Amino acid sequence: MNMMSWQPIGRLEDIPVRGSRRIVFDNRRIAIFRTAVDTVFAIDDACPHKAGPLSEGIVHDNCVTCPLHNWVINLETGEAQGADEGSTSTYPILNEDGELSIGFTGS
Ligand code: FES
Repeated sequence: MNMMSWQPIGRLEDIPVRGSRRIVFDNRRIAIFRTAVDTVFAIDDACPHKAGPLSEGIVHDNCVTCPLHNWVINLETGEAQGADEGSTSTYPILNEDGELSIGFTGS
């Protein structure tokens, strides 16, 4: 069975509302997003279209619009919305009184 390992990634306040912070973990570039209602999501910082930097996109509801060609990516599922097809990896986030951790599945 795979174990989840949790890595601390700072506080909710470190992330701008409707914006993101980038972290690098194990050579993975990951974008941590904070929505207008303070939900936090973590997904790979690479659009499923042509690897655009999703961390520079605009957050609306639980989605981000890629800054390159405006694909809309669902932050919960990592899936492209509408007619576009593709998905990027998502990671679970633990929010304990504003202290955030990201979960990785070990092997
Ligand atoms: S790279 Fe994101 S929409 Fe093209």
